[in-house]
Order: sequence, then C-alpha cells, then structure tokens
Amino acid sequence: MAAESDAVHGGRRRHVLLFPLPYQGHINPMFRLAGLLHARGFSVTVFHTHFNAPDPARHPQYRFVPVPVPDGTSGPAPAAIEDVIAQILALGAACESGFRDRLAAVLEEYSRDAVACLIADAHLLPIFEVTAKLAVPTLALRTGSAACFACFLAYPMLFEKGYLPVKGMSSDPASVRRTFLVARRNNRNTCSSDRRELTRSMDAESQRDMPVSELTPYRVRDLMVFLGDDDRGSLRELLARAVTAVKVSSGLILNTFDALERRELEGLRRDLTVPVFDIGPLHKFSPAGDSSLLRQDRSCLDWLDARPPASALYVSFGSLACMSPRDLVETAWGIAGSGVPFLWVVRPGMVRGSAHQEQELPEGFEAATRGRGMVVAWAPQEEVLRHRAVGGFWTHNGWNSTTESVCEGVPMLCCPYFGDQMGNARYVEHVWRVGFEVGGELERGAVEAAIRRLITGKDGAEMRARAGELKKAAEECIGKGGSSCLAIDKLIAHMTSL
Ligand code: UDX
Repeated sequence: MAAESDAVHGGRRRHVLLFPLPYQGHINPMFRLAGLLHARGFSVTVFHTHFNAPDPARHPQYRFVPVPVPDGTSGPAPAAIEDVIAQILALGAACESGFRDRLAAVLEEYSRDAVACLIADAHLLPIFEVTAKLAVPTLALRTGSAACFACFLAYPMLFEKGYLPVKGMSSDPASVRRTFLVARRNNRNTCSSDRRELTRSMDAESQRDMPVSELTPYRVRDLMVFLGDDDRGSLRELLARAVTAVKVSSGLILNTFDALERRELEGLRRDLTVPVFDIGPLHKFSPAGDSSLLRQDRSCLDWLDARPPASALYVSFGSLACMSPRDLVETAWGIAGSGVPFLWVVRPGMVRGSAHQEQELPEGFEAATRGRGMVVAWAPQEEVLRHRAVGGFWTHNGWNSTTESVCEGVPMLCCPYFGDQMGNARYVEHVWRVGFEVGGELERGAVEAAIRRLITGKDGAEMRARAGELKKAAEECIGKGGSSCLAIDKLIAHMTSL
C-alpha cells in the first residue's frame, strides 16, 4: 500500500476536489471514493449543485462548495428518463460559469500546488472544459460498468453498421402487439394500418434480438436506446460528451473490478490513451449510507433478523425507475402469490402519476401478505443485501445495485428499465450466471414463478452458489495485493504526480 504521506504536500494534506452528478446512483460512488481518498490522507472538497445537494452536517470532515445555477435549471426530480437526460445536459451547461468562479476562489485559497486534482462525473463535460482552462488536472469517474463505457465508445460504430437506430420502432413493440391482439379478438377484421404497425413492430423486435458481435454478449435490445424515433439526439449527445470528457481527462476511474470485467477492462485499456483505474467495488472500501438522499428505514433490518437464512426476497428498483400502475399491481400480486417472505422498497413517486406510498399498493395486498412481508420507502440497501436472511434480489440492475448484490453473493431477478440496466442484466444472466431476467410484460403468474425459481428452486440455488464464488473473487480483488487495491495505489500515485 502507498504511504498516507503520498497525499501530504509541504507538511499539509493535499486537496482533492470532487464534483458528482447529482443523482443517487452517481452520488453514492463519488462519496465512497471521497471516503477512500480521505482515509488515504487527502482533504476533500465537494462542489455540488443545489439540486439533490448533499447534507454537509453528515460529512463534517469534508468541505462543501455550492455552485450556483440560473433559476429554473434545477427543478424537481424528473420522472421520465428522457427528462433526466435533458436535465443532465442542462445542469452541466448551467454550472459552467458558477463553477469557474468557485473553482478560481478555491485555487487561490488553497494555493494551486496543494491541489492534487479534481475528479468529476464523466457526464459533466462543461466541468472538464473549465478545469482545462484553469490548468487543473481532472480525472473522470464513470459510475457504470466497463462494458457500458465500451458501448458508449462504440456508439458511432453501432449507427455506422446499422445496429442502430432500431428501424420502425415508433412505440413499444409489446404494447403494439397487445393492442393488435385485443383488436383482433374484439373484431376479427383488423384494419390495414394496425397490421402495418404490427409488421413494423415485429421487424423492430427481430432487430432488437440481433447479437452485436463487436460487443458480445450484448444484443441490440441491451444497448442504450430510446423507444421511438423522436429523441435519439439527446442520448447520443449525452454519450458523446461522456466519451469526450474521458478522452480529455487525466484518467478514467471505474467502479468495477478485475474479477467481474477483465476482458472489458482490457478492451478499454486498448481503446483509450488515458490510464484506467478499476478500483471497485467502492462500497467495500468505504460505505455510502450517509450520502443517501432519502431517509433509510432501518426497522427492516430487525424484521430481517427474525427470518431464516436465504429465505427472503429483497425488491427494489433504485432511485429513478418508474413503473406503470398496471405493473405495480402485477408485481404486488406476483409477490403475494409466490408465498415467499419479502422486503419491498416502494419509493415515493416510483409509480407513474402517484407520489404517496399508501396509495400505490393494491387494495387487499397488505391483508394478503400480513406477517410475511415488509414495505418501506427506502432501505439501507448495502446492509439489507449483506443480511443472511436475504436469498434473492429483484432489481432494476442499476450498476450500484448489481455490484452490491454480486459482492454479497445474492442472486438476482432482473427487471431492467432503461439506460445501462439492460446491459447489466445481460451480464448477470449470460456472463456471470447469477440471475435471470423476468422476460416480457410483467404478469402476476410469471412473477410468482420467477420468485419461487430464484428463492426456492434448484437453479436459484445454483445461481446462489455461483454468486457466492463471485463474492469470493470480489473479496480477493479488494484484499491485500488484490487488483483493486493495487489500482487504488496506482491511482493515488498518479494523482500526486499530476
Ligand atoms: C442510476 C441508473 O438507474 C443506473 O442504471 C445507473 O447505473 C446509475 O444511475 P439508480 O437507479 O439510482 O442509478 O440505481 P443504482 O445504480 O442501483 O443506485 C442506487 C443506489 O441507491 C445504490 O447504491 C443503493 O444501495 C441505494 N439504495 C437503493 C438505497 O440506499 N436504498 C434503497 O432503498 C434503494
């Protein structure tokens, strides 16, 4: 291990400056990194937006610098992923001038030599442009997998080779098919425009099933795409900006580890000229509980204490995914019908068009599951997954949730919603083989069967055994002399050499 004195300059701690993207799935890894660097001797200064601002009282060891943005940029948390993307692009641009002023003031106060570098989320390209002008070396943190970033790099190729866009996909193919079947049931003479729409939709479906040989094991459906022709521009811009940010940075930090993504990391090291530091899983080096934007309901840990080992299903769809009221009903009755004990996170606003937890669950659900389940608004997820009573995780496969599950040896029921989640689910099922996807539309019968297969089924037990092996491999990576430990030493040496 590098000595703590690496981070000391002229008898004083060197400063590292951080700028997270203000969403839970990005804040957590950045704060875990902050904890790690602080423990290795750095003073930590966190720049942040007012939107989803951290609570300085929970991190008295760090300094916080709010960056002003023009009125109207922050707004409430957006519900649809298209709006999240628009908000990320707008926030980055809006921060630029306020950040320039704040950074200049901080550099003057600390003295330029005492600042090792800035680490910014790769989705904040305007921050990298400011630091380049002020000659502050900047590292990029990507909070997703190495495979996901390889996909960002490949985006132009995916369009060039015709994998994208998905032609004729004007709406969700499953819902087009359902509409068509219902129309045919009600009136056997479906109109020709319905038939045309169905054909287009089926073509889109077969295109979505195409394997992407350059990015094995992805299929087109596992890539980051929007349904609909209308808005591919902002997604392409978002991904292209992240690629530029990484390429102009002094290095790429990834919250992944060798045992999980060796091949993908090798690919990135071939394709990028900047150094790549695979220092994950960050939550194993430093917990992030205190960076939670919602209050974690810890009473669920007592509830889990009373359950037998590996008996309960933990259900959570992360901080952004929204489900339809119909899917909520099918999920609820599927959970109820499975007979399996469960802990379910029903986040306020998780169901489209609703803001209150009480209103969201179907009538009769509580009575049907009394004594067998617990519903909370937000859980201490890392501790829940570590709890011996948890036998499976029904997840949206955000990258943090996926790695947190892997590191505790918990197999997964995958229900990806958007972005990198489909690709993560693909790796869970087809590469690491520690879970499987609840395919197609959510139907209570299929949900019931999937839950039983995971928690009490034979192949669920096999997945749990493989997850246990992966957990051991993760422990080796973070142990003394392990790949992630060595990568952290390299990162710190790199930061102090810039
Ligand atoms: C988002 C995107 O959805 C995801 O695809 C991308 O990889 C990162 O950004 P999010 O939806 O927040 O992430 O999911 P995830 O990456 O899993 O992060 C959620 C974090 O919240 C995890 O660290 C998890 O431990 C925490 N969490 C979740 C809680 O603390 N309590 C909960 O009840 C649920």
